[in-house]
Amino acid sequence: MKAPPRLRSLIEEGLIDSVVRQLMSGKEAMVFVVRSGGETRCAKVYKEATQRSFRQAVDYTENRKVKNTRQARAMAKGTKFGREAQEAAWQSAEVDALYRLAAAGVRVPRPINFHDGVLLMELVTDANGDAAPRLNDVAFTADEARTHHRALIAEVVRMLAAGVIHGDLSEFNILLAADGPVIIDLPQAVDAAGNNHAQRMLLRDVANLSAFFGRFAPELLVTRYGPEIWDLYQRGMLQPDTRPTGAFESRLGPVDVAGVLRVVDDARDEEKARLQRMQLAG
Ligand SMILES: Nc1ncnc2c1ncn2[C@@H]1O[C@H](COP(=O)(O)OP(=O)(O)O)[C@@H](O)[C@H]1O
Ligand SMILES: [Mg+2]
Repeated sequence: MKAPPRLRSLIEEGLIDSVVRQLMSGKEAMVFVVRSGGETRCAKVYKEATQRSFRQAVDYTENRKVKNTRQARAMAKGTKFGREAQEAAWQSAEVDALYRLAAAGVRVPRPINFHDGVLLMELVTDANGDAAPRLNDVAFTADEARTHHRALIAEVVRMLAAGVIHGDLSEFNILLAADGPVIIDLPQAVDAAGNNHAQRMLLRDVANLSAFFGRFAPELLVTRYGPEIWDLYQRGMLQPDTRPTGAFESRLGPVDVAGVLRVVDDARDEEKARLQRMQLAG
């Protein structure tokens, strides 16, 4: 197809050889299939802020690292320079998150380049080599649903152990590749450590997974992976390979019956000893 204007500079730079077709025009971006470096890849063109929807909200931008203080002041004041800086921070946040998560072993598209507001990355494909479907476009057996749900909970744990929360995880932002689910669409990803909304976003991400896969395997609807994962994280006990159970009760955990009986026995022994002492004394 004829190259859209936003991809022309990447063609001039030699980053893209040709544009094959438009894949999607989503809420925040237009996505194209391109040829690049001898491979079929994916180019995500971010829409301008004014055309975007709700996600520029404060909870996502809070604590986003802006190194330059002139930039930070301008962003706070909402000047034109500030809006542009904010825009650039938003777009590069996805590339940053992709590199960070790939390094942490999370299955995300491999980032290749970020240039002029365009993210060039691996095209996630199905078994035929075609662009992979979103989870939302696929039906699952109960077993498949349980398997994918387990795999994605493990990915959420790996992400959080690396300090990242997706923030918009749902069946629309997970692709089903030939080798399993792949998490995409990360410009709103947040730093778990410095964000007041981190817990709420993590719980929502995990609840979305349970609700979606619960359509195929209803027992997933009553699991409590979110609170369990957050509790482990907060107590500094979350490791990349932690496997939560989904059966989280409360911070106290289940009652330790054997422990309670031991305490009762000890009290009884003490009382017996006390009575003996009194008898001896009397
Ligand atoms: N790396 C990729 N490989 C294959 N398809 C992709 C890839 N990235 C995005 N897509 C397709 O483009 C759509 C929109 O991309 P996404 O990153 O979710 O942006 P938006 O913010 O518009 O939702 C996705 O639902 C998916 O179908
Ligand atoms: Mg999306």
